[in-house]
Amino acid sequence: MRVLITGVAGFIGTNLSLHYLEKRHKVYGIDNFDKYNSLDLKKFRLRILKKQKNFIFKKIDITDRDDLFKYFKNKKIDLIIHLAGQAGVRYSLLNPKKYINNNIIGFLNIVFSAKKYNIKKIIYASSSSVYGDSKKFPSKETDKLKQKNIYAVSKKLNEKIAEVYSKLTQIKFIGLRFFTIYGEFGRTDMFLFKLFKSSFNKDIFKINNFGNHLRDFTYIKDVNEIVYKLSFKNLGKNEIFNICSNNPKNIFKIVKYFKKENDVRVHLVNKHKADILKTHGDNSKLIKKIKFDNFTNINKEIFKIYDWYKRNKIYKM
Ligand SMILES: NC(=O)c1ccc[n+]([C@@H]2O[C@H](COP(=O)([O-])OP(=O)(O)OC[C@H]3O[C@@H](n4cnc5c(N)ncnc54)[C@H](O)[C@@H]3O)[C@@H](O)[C@H]2O)c1
Repeated sequence: MRVLITGVAGFIGTNLSLHYLEKRHKVYGIDNFDKYNSLDLKKFRLRILKKQKNFIFKKIDITDRDDLFKYFKNKKIDLIIHLAGQAGVRYSLLNPKKYINNNIIGFLNIVFSAKKYNIKKIIYASSSSVYGDSKKFPSKETDKLKQKNIYAVSKKLNEKIAEVYSKLTQIKFIGLRFFTIYGEFGRTDMFLFKLFKSSFNKDIFKINNFGNHLRDFTYIKDVNEIVYKLSFKNLGKNEIFNICSNNPKNIFKIVKYFKKENDVRVHLVNKHKADILKTHGDNSKLIKKIKFDNFTNINKEIFKIYDWYKRNKIYKM
Protein backbone atom coordinates (compact mmCIF):
# COMPACT_ATOMS: atom_id res chain seq x y z
CA MET A 1 0.00 0.00 0.00
CA ARG A 2 1.12 3.59 -0.64
CA VAL A 3 0.41 5.65 2.46
CA LEU A 4 0.76 9.40 2.84
CA ILE A 5 1.35 10.51 6.43
CA THR A 6 1.03 14.24 7.11
CA GLY A 7 2.77 15.67 10.18
CA VAL A 8 5.32 12.90 9.76
CA ALA A 9 8.04 14.63 11.81
CA GLY A 10 5.67 14.78 14.76
CA PHE A 11 5.27 12.30 17.61
CA ILE A 12 2.42 10.16 16.28
CA GLY A 13 3.45 10.58 12.62
CA THR A 14 6.93 9.17 13.27
CA ASN A 15 5.62 6.17 15.18
CA LEU A 16 2.92 5.33 12.65
CA SER A 17 5.37 5.70 9.77
CA LEU A 18 7.80 3.26 11.38
CA HIS A 19 4.94 0.82 11.90
CA TYR A 20 3.75 0.92 8.27
CA LEU A 21 7.35 0.69 7.03
CA GLU A 22 7.95 -2.34 9.23
CA LYS A 23 4.92 -3.93 7.57
CA ARG A 24 6.55 -3.21 4.20
CA HIS A 25 4.32 -0.44 2.94
CA LYS A 26 5.60 2.59 1.11
CA VAL A 27 5.33 5.75 3.22
CA TYR A 28 5.25 9.24 1.79
CA GLY A 29 5.75 11.73 4.61
CA ILE A 30 5.14 15.46 4.62
CA ASP A 31 5.67 18.10 7.31
CA ASN A 32 6.30 21.86 7.30
CA PHE A 33 8.65 21.77 10.31
CA ASP A 34 6.41 24.06 12.28
CA LYS A 35 8.29 25.86 15.07
CA TYR A 36 5.74 25.13 17.84
CA ASN A 37 7.78 22.12 19.02
CA SER A 38 11.56 21.68 18.92
CA LEU A 39 12.92 21.60 15.38
CA ASP A 40 15.90 19.55 16.55
CA LEU A 41 13.50 16.92 17.77
CA LYS A 42 11.72 16.85 14.41
CA LYS A 43 15.07 16.52 12.61
CA PHE A 44 16.00 13.66 14.95
CA ARG A 45 12.78 11.81 14.18
CA LEU A 46 13.18 12.40 10.47
CA ARG A 47 16.77 11.13 10.49
CA ILE A 48 15.49 7.83 11.84
CA LEU A 49 12.70 7.67 9.26
CA LYS A 50 15.05 8.47 6.39
CA LYS A 51 17.13 5.39 7.21
CA GLN A 52 14.17 3.24 6.13
CA LYS A 53 14.09 1.99 2.58
CA ASN A 54 10.51 2.78 1.60
CA PHE A 55 10.26 6.23 3.13
CA ILE A 56 10.13 9.42 1.07
CA PHE A 57 9.96 12.85 2.70
CA LYS A 58 9.02 16.27 1.37
CA LYS A 59 8.74 19.52 3.26
CA ILE A 60 5.26 20.84 2.48
CA ASP A 61 2.89 23.17 4.24
CA ILE A 62 -0.65 21.82 4.01
CA THR A 63 -2.08 25.33 4.10
CA ASP A 64 -0.67 25.83 0.58
CA ARG A 65 -3.19 24.13 -1.69
CA ASP A 66 -1.26 24.63 -4.94
CA ASP A 67 1.84 22.99 -3.49
CA LEU A 68 -0.22 20.09 -2.20
CA PHE A 69 -1.92 19.56 -5.57
CA LYS A 70 1.49 19.48 -7.28
CA TYR A 71 2.79 17.07 -4.66
CA PHE A 72 -0.01 14.53 -5.08
CA LYS A 73 0.42 14.30 -8.85
CA ASN A 74 1.48 10.81 -10.06
CA LYS A 75 1.87 9.41 -6.53
CA LYS A 76 -1.12 7.07 -6.62
CA ILE A 77 -1.65 7.24 -2.86
CA ASP A 78 -4.04 4.59 -1.46
CA LEU A 79 -4.49 6.03 2.01
CA ILE A 80 -3.95 9.37 3.72
CA ILE A 81 -3.24 9.44 7.45
CA HIS A 82 -3.67 13.09 8.29
CA LEU A 83 -1.92 14.12 11.51
CA ALA A 84 -0.44 17.50 10.57
CA GLY A 85 -1.88 20.30 12.60
CA GLN A 86 -1.47 22.63 15.49
CA ALA A 87 -1.74 20.58 18.69
CA GLY A 88 -2.05 21.82 22.26
CA VAL A 89 -5.00 23.18 24.19
CA ARG A 90 -3.29 25.99 26.12
CA TYR A 91 -1.58 27.52 23.09
CA SER A 92 -4.99 27.88 21.42
CA LEU A 93 -5.79 30.65 23.91
CA LEU A 94 -2.74 32.59 22.71
CA ASN A 95 -2.84 31.96 18.97
CA PRO A 96 -6.31 30.84 17.84
CA LYS A 97 -5.70 31.89 14.22
CA LYS A 98 -3.04 29.26 13.79
CA TYR A 99 -5.59 26.56 14.62
CA ILE A 100 -7.97 27.90 11.97
CA ASN A 101 -5.22 27.90 9.32
CA ASN A 102 -3.41 24.66 10.09
CA ASN A 103 -6.28 22.55 11.36
CA ILE A 104 -9.23 23.74 9.31
CA ILE A 105 -7.88 25.21 6.06
CA GLY A 106 -5.15 22.54 6.09
CA PHE A 107 -7.72 19.77 6.50
CA LEU A 108 -9.87 21.15 3.67
CA ASN A 109 -6.80 21.18 1.42
CA ILE A 110 -6.12 17.53 2.22
CA VAL A 111 -9.74 16.65 1.43
CA PHE A 112 -9.65 18.55 -1.88
CA SER A 113 -6.37 16.84 -2.82
CA ALA A 114 -7.93 13.44 -2.10
CA LYS A 115 -10.94 14.36 -4.21
CA LYS A 116 -8.81 15.62 -7.11
CA TYR A 117 -6.55 12.55 -7.12
CA ASN A 118 -9.27 10.01 -6.46
CA ILE A 119 -7.92 8.85 -3.08
CA LYS A 120 -10.54 6.72 -1.37
CA LYS A 121 -9.68 6.89 2.32
CA ILE A 122 -8.61 9.51 4.86
CA ILE A 123 -7.83 8.64 8.47
CA TYR A 124 -7.48 11.88 10.43
CA ALA A 125 -6.62 13.04 13.95
CA SER A 126 -9.42 14.44 16.02
CA SER A 127 -9.08 14.71 19.81
CA SER A 128 -10.66 13.82 23.14
CA SER A 129 -10.87 17.56 23.75
CA VAL A 130 -14.04 17.68 21.61
CA TYR A 131 -15.83 16.33 24.72
CA GLY A 132 -14.91 19.39 26.79
CA ASP A 133 -15.64 19.21 30.51
CA SER A 134 -17.96 16.23 30.37
CA LYS A 135 -19.88 15.16 33.43
CA LYS A 136 -20.79 11.71 32.13
CA PHE A 137 -18.06 9.01 31.85
CA PRO A 138 -16.84 7.13 29.96
CA SER A 139 -17.36 9.48 27.00
CA LYS A 140 -18.98 7.79 24.03
CA GLU A 141 -18.63 8.76 20.38
CA THR A 142 -22.37 9.55 20.35
CA ASP A 143 -22.29 11.92 23.36
CA LYS A 144 -23.23 15.57 23.06
CA LEU A 145 -20.05 17.64 22.77
CA LYS A 146 -19.11 20.86 24.57
CA GLN A 147 -15.78 22.14 23.23
CA LYS A 148 -14.19 24.75 25.48
CA ASN A 149 -11.35 26.08 23.34
CA ILE A 150 -10.47 26.77 19.70
CA TYR A 151 -8.30 23.66 19.45
CA ALA A 152 -11.32 21.50 20.28
CA VAL A 153 -13.50 23.54 17.92
CA SER A 154 -11.01 23.00 15.09
CA LYS A 155 -11.08 19.24 15.67
CA LYS A 156 -14.88 19.16 15.84
CA LEU A 157 -15.02 21.11 12.59
CA ASN A 158 -12.76 18.49 10.98
CA GLU A 159 -15.33 15.89 11.94
CA LYS A 160 -18.11 18.04 10.42
CA ILE A 161 -16.11 18.58 7.21
CA ALA A 162 -15.56 14.81 7.00
CA GLU A 163 -19.29 14.22 7.41
CA VAL A 164 -20.12 16.63 4.57
CA TYR A 165 -17.46 15.36 2.14
CA SER A 166 -18.20 11.72 2.86
CA LYS A 167 -21.56 12.48 1.24
CA LEU A 168 -20.32 14.71 -1.58
CA THR A 169 -17.36 12.55 -2.68
CA GLN A 170 -16.15 8.93 -2.87
CA ILE A 171 -13.83 9.46 0.09
CA LYS A 172 -14.28 7.34 3.23
CA PHE A 173 -13.31 9.07 6.48
CA ILE A 174 -12.17 7.69 9.82
CA GLY A 175 -11.80 10.27 12.62
CA LEU A 176 -9.62 9.32 15.60
CA ARG A 177 -10.39 10.99 18.90
CA PHE A 178 -6.96 10.52 20.50
CA PHE A 179 -6.85 10.50 24.31
CA THR A 180 -3.42 11.58 25.73
CA ILE A 181 -1.06 9.46 23.67
CA TYR A 182 2.33 8.76 25.28
CA GLY A 183 5.47 6.85 24.38
CA GLU A 184 8.75 6.85 22.50
CA PHE A 185 9.45 9.94 20.33
CA GLY A 186 6.94 11.79 22.55
CA ARG A 187 6.25 15.50 22.66
CA THR A 188 8.19 17.68 25.10
CA ASP A 189 5.15 19.89 25.75
CA MET A 190 3.19 16.95 27.19
CA PHE A 191 3.08 15.64 30.78
CA LEU A 192 5.28 12.55 30.55
CA PHE A 193 8.31 14.05 28.84
CA LYS A 194 8.07 17.17 31.01
CA LEU A 195 8.23 14.85 34.02
CA PHE A 196 11.24 13.03 32.56
CA LYS A 197 13.03 16.30 31.84
CA SER A 198 12.47 17.60 35.38
CA SER A 199 13.74 14.37 36.86
CA PHE A 200 16.76 14.16 34.59
CA ASN A 201 17.76 17.83 35.00
CA LYS A 202 16.80 17.92 38.70
CA ASP A 203 14.38 20.78 37.98
CA ILE A 204 11.13 21.37 39.77
CA PHE A 205 8.18 19.60 38.15
CA LYS A 206 5.02 21.69 38.30
CA ILE A 207 1.81 19.68 38.55
CA ASN A 208 -1.31 21.52 37.52
CA ASN A 209 -4.53 21.39 39.49
CA PHE A 210 -2.59 19.96 42.45
CA GLY A 211 -2.29 16.68 40.56
CA ASN A 212 -6.02 16.06 40.48
CA HIS A 213 -6.37 15.71 36.71
CA LEU A 214 -7.32 12.33 35.35
CA ARG A 215 -6.20 11.28 31.89
CA ASP A 216 -7.02 8.24 29.82
CA PHE A 217 -3.38 7.58 28.85
CA THR A 218 -2.99 5.55 25.67
CA TYR A 219 0.27 3.98 24.59
CA ILE A 220 1.60 4.84 21.13
CA LYS A 221 2.37 1.20 20.29
CA ASP A 222 -1.30 0.34 20.88
CA VAL A 223 -2.21 3.29 18.64
CA ASN A 224 0.05 1.91 15.88
CA GLU A 225 -1.76 -1.41 15.90
CA ILE A 226 -5.20 0.17 16.12
CA VAL A 227 -4.67 2.57 13.23
CA TYR A 228 -3.09 -0.19 11.14
CA LYS A 229 -6.07 -2.47 11.69
CA LEU A 230 -8.51 0.36 10.94
CA SER A 231 -6.76 1.14 7.67
CA PHE A 232 -7.68 -2.30 6.31
CA LYS A 233 -11.22 -2.46 7.70
CA ASN A 234 -14.18 -1.99 5.48
CA LEU A 235 -16.20 0.52 7.47
CA GLY A 236 -18.97 3.03 6.79
CA LYS A 237 -18.32 6.21 4.82
CA ASN A 238 -17.85 8.36 7.88
CA GLU A 239 -16.72 6.83 11.17
CA ILE A 240 -15.39 8.25 14.43
CA PHE A 241 -13.56 6.25 17.10
CA ASN A 242 -12.32 7.03 20.58
CA ILE A 243 -8.68 5.96 20.69
CA CYS A 244 -8.26 5.37 24.40
CA SER A 245 -7.51 2.64 26.90
CA ASN A 246 -10.66 3.23 28.99
CA ASN A 247 -8.48 3.43 32.09
CA PRO A 248 -8.14 6.99 33.45
CA LYS A 249 -5.20 7.61 35.77
CA ASN A 250 -4.66 10.33 38.32
CA ILE A 251 -1.63 12.44 37.39
CA PHE A 252 -0.38 12.67 40.97
CA LYS A 253 -0.47 8.89 41.36
CA ILE A 254 1.57 8.44 38.19
CA VAL A 255 4.18 10.87 39.51
CA LYS A 256 4.23 9.01 42.83
CA TYR A 257 4.74 5.74 41.01
CA PHE A 258 7.56 7.24 38.91
CA LYS A 259 9.19 8.51 42.13
CA LYS A 260 9.59 4.93 43.36
CA GLU A 261 12.65 4.66 41.12
CA ASN A 262 13.53 8.27 40.26
CA ASP A 263 14.01 11.52 42.08
CA VAL A 264 11.81 14.40 41.10
CA ARG A 265 11.00 17.55 43.04
CA VAL A 266 7.31 18.33 42.72
CA HIS A 267 5.53 21.63 43.05
CA LEU A 268 1.72 21.61 43.09
CA VAL A 269 0.07 24.53 41.27
CA ASN A 270 -3.41 25.75 40.40
CA LYS A 271 -5.49 24.51 37.49
CA HIS A 272 -4.87 26.22 34.14
CA LYS A 273 -8.11 27.71 32.79
CA ALA A 274 -7.83 25.84 29.47
CA ASP A 275 -7.41 22.43 31.11
CA ILE A 276 -10.01 19.71 31.16
CA LEU A 277 -10.36 17.98 34.53
CA LYS A 278 -10.87 14.45 33.36
CA THR A 279 -10.74 12.41 30.20
CA HIS A 280 -12.09 8.91 30.11
CA GLY A 281 -13.25 7.38 26.87
CA ASP A 282 -15.41 4.42 26.08
CA ASN A 283 -13.55 2.19 23.61
CA SER A 284 -16.20 -0.46 23.08
CA LYS A 285 -16.96 0.65 19.47
CA LEU A 286 -13.27 0.28 18.63
CA ILE A 287 -12.89 -3.09 20.35
CA LYS A 288 -15.95 -4.42 18.56
CA LYS A 289 -14.77 -3.30 15.12
CA ILE A 290 -11.13 -4.33 15.23
CA LYS A 291 -10.96 -6.91 18.02
CA PHE A 292 -8.17 -5.10 19.84
CA ASP A 293 -8.42 -5.01 23.61
CA ASN A 294 -4.85 -5.49 24.73
CA PHE A 295 -4.36 -1.95 26.05
CA THR A 296 -1.08 -1.19 27.82
CA ASN A 297 -1.07 0.13 31.39
CA ILE A 298 1.16 3.22 31.70
CA ASN A 299 2.75 1.86 34.91
CA LYS A 300 4.04 -1.10 32.94
CA GLU A 301 5.86 1.10 30.39
CA ILE A 302 6.85 4.28 32.23
CA PHE A 303 10.32 3.16 33.36
CA LYS A 304 11.13 1.64 29.96
CA ILE A 305 10.14 4.87 28.22
CA TYR A 306 12.27 6.85 30.68
CA ASP A 307 15.24 4.58 29.82
CA TRP A 308 14.56 5.28 26.14
CA TYR A 309 14.43 9.02 26.94
CA LYS A 310 17.80 8.87 28.71
CA ARG A 311 19.38 7.01 25.78
CA ASN A 312 18.34 9.76 23.32
CA LYS A 313 20.34 12.81 24.20
CA ILE A 314 18.35 15.13 21.93
CA TYR A 315 15.61 15.11 24.58
CA LYS A 316 17.87 16.46 27.26
CA MET A 317 18.87 19.57 25.35
N1 LIG B 1 -0.45 13.44 21.09
C1 LIG B 1 -1.68 13.40 21.60
O1 LIG B 1 -1.90 12.94 22.73
C2 LIG B 1 -2.85 13.91 20.78
C3 LIG B 1 -4.12 13.95 21.41
C4 LIG B 1 -5.21 14.39 20.67
C5 LIG B 1 -5.05 14.77 19.35
N2 LIG B 1 -3.81 14.75 18.77
C6 LIG B 1 -3.69 15.19 17.37
O2 LIG B 1 -2.95 14.23 16.64
C7 LIG B 1 -2.14 14.89 15.64
C8 LIG B 1 -0.68 14.48 15.82
O3 LIG B 1 -0.30 14.84 17.13
P1 LIG B 1 1.21 14.78 17.64
O4 LIG B 1 1.14 14.59 19.11
O5 LIG B 1 1.99 13.86 16.81
O6 LIG B 1 1.64 16.29 17.38
P2 LIG B 1 3.03 16.90 16.84
O7 LIG B 1 2.96 18.36 17.11
O8 LIG B 1 4.16 16.13 17.39
O9 LIG B 1 2.94 16.63 15.28
C9 LIG B 1 2.24 17.44 14.38
C10 LIG B 1 3.14 17.69 13.18
O10 LIG B 1 2.40 18.44 12.22
C11 LIG B 1 3.28 19.36 11.61
N3 LIG B 1 2.49 20.47 11.06
C12 LIG B 1 1.83 21.43 11.74
N4 LIG B 1 1.26 22.30 10.89
C13 LIG B 1 1.56 21.86 9.63
C14 LIG B 1 1.29 22.35 8.33
N5 LIG B 1 0.58 23.47 8.16
N6 LIG B 1 1.74 21.66 7.26
C15 LIG B 1 2.48 20.53 7.43
N7 LIG B 1 2.81 20.02 8.64
C16 LIG B 1 2.34 20.70 9.73
C17 LIG B 1 4.23 19.80 12.72
O11 LIG B 1 5.46 20.31 12.21
C18 LIG B 1 4.39 18.51 13.51
O12 LIG B 1 5.57 17.82 13.13
C19 LIG B 1 -2.40 16.37 15.80
O13 LIG B 1 -3.38 16.76 14.87
C20 LIG B 1 -2.94 16.50 17.21
O14 LIG B 1 -3.79 17.61 17.37
C21 LIG B 1 -2.71 14.32 19.47
